[in-house]
Amino acid sequence: MDKLLIRGGRPLHGEVLISGAKNAALPELCAALLSAQPVTLHNVPRLQDVATMLKLIRNMGVTAERDDNGTVTLNAGALNNPEAPYELVKTMRASVLALGPLLARFGHAKVSLPGGCAIGSRPVDQHIKGLQAMGAVITVENGYMNASLPEGWKRLKGAHITTDMVTVTGTENFLMAAALAEGETVLENAAMEPEITDLAEMLIKMGARISGHGTSRITIEGVEALHGCEHAVVADRIEAGTFLCAVAATGGEAFLRHGRADHLSAVIDKLLEAGAQVQTEEGGIRVRSQGRLKAQSFRTTEYPGFPTDMQAQFMALNLVAEGPSMVTETIFENRFMHVNEMMRLGARITTDGRVATVEGGAPLSGATVMATDLRASASLVIAGLVAKGETLVDRIYHLDRGYDRMEAKLRGLGADIERVSQ
Ligand code: EPZ
Repeated sequence: MDKLLIRGGRPLHGEVLISGAKNAALPELCAALLSAQPVTLHNVPRLQDVATMLKLIRNMGVTAERDDNGTVTLNAGALNNPEAPYELVKTMRASVLALGPLLARFGHAKVSLPGGCAIGSRPVDQHIKGLQAMGAVITVENGYMNASLPEGWKRLKGAHITTDMVTVTGTENFLMAAALAEGETVLENAAMEPEITDLAEMLIKMGARISGHGTSRITIEGVEALHGCEHAVVADRIEAGTFLCAVAATGGEAFLRHGRADHLSAVIDKLLEAGAQVQTEEGGIRVRSQGRLKAQSFRTTEYPGFPTDMQAQFMALNLVAEGPSMVTETIFENRFMHVNEMMRLGARITTDGRVATVEGGAPLSGATVMATDLRASASLVIAGLVAKGETLVDRIYHLDRGYDRMEAKLRGLGADIERVSQ
């Protein structure tokens, strides 16, 4: 099992390339299932989750070729097995994104329930509710969702869908299903993340008729069929935010090429309040910090609020900033697993339900810590970059799921970090 060995205390300097967004690439690979014509995706990040998704759709009969500079060409023309089996779905919850496209194009699909994951139970009841509103007949048995159309139906039918809470992949499933449904679908309470907007723009290139994406009310006019397209995956705002926190926490200066400051305003506002300098420049974001910052309280909410996927990383910054801070996690019920590991580095944090109280300024010293989920592992890397001495981050397969060669990028910024294999 690979680990990351970090020797902390070095400021970060230089330029880093921000990759395509994991949480846009995954739904966009599924969007290719909607068409019998070839789809080309550029700027696809090199991640374990992308490799898993390619395995999943190849298993359905889709041809998918990936070249060395992030371009994936897909052809779902010969797709003959609209199934997502448990052994693939259990490692990646985003496999549920195959459900909407398969049902919309083939009229039936069999997708394993994703099961929970470290940060929470992660149900898919809203996905099921919305697709049922479009006419889908969905039974759940033996851990699988079996979806089909009512007798005599050729296509799903447009519907008015209001989910009980904002769901990112739920909104994405509905967008893809509605694109081929008969009639109009209106999504109220839709997610507004930039990855939703990017998916909608790709679907529009395929011939879908969508408006309102990026707002909480999206309207889709279904069409009979979608053609192929060429699309470049939007830059990863969470990877960019992670690097912003790493540079701010260690001190130094860096340029994040392709970073989109307009997708990170809630995080950048907090970094500016903390005393870091962050500005948009041609082609990216520049961040500068002397390292001594003022800790910032924040609460995670849906976009455009402070992203839950940045909670652990900003907490790592708060550890080394001055003063107390309160971090409130409103999206997931169990997203503080990084706290115990941070305490092994000397952090002083108490948690009460969804609120963590961080005492800033505690001197951190290196230790062996264990990654528990994707963003927690990134936060431990940031803490290790600041801690005195050596930090060994174990179970970094979590990191590899969602970050494209992070240690190489950090080494490029001057960090003393290397991957060691057991
Ligand atoms: C997406 O997950 C992201 N994953 C997550 O990123 C991200 O943390 C999350 O959105 C919130 O922004 C991908 O896009 C692949 P939700 P998703 O449905 O869609 C509850 C990362 O680190 N809910 O928006 O699964 C749910 O339990 C990952 O890259 C239901 O109850 O999240 C949660 O409390 C982690 N029933 C809340 O809604 C449902 O049917 C928001 O979940 C669906 C969701």
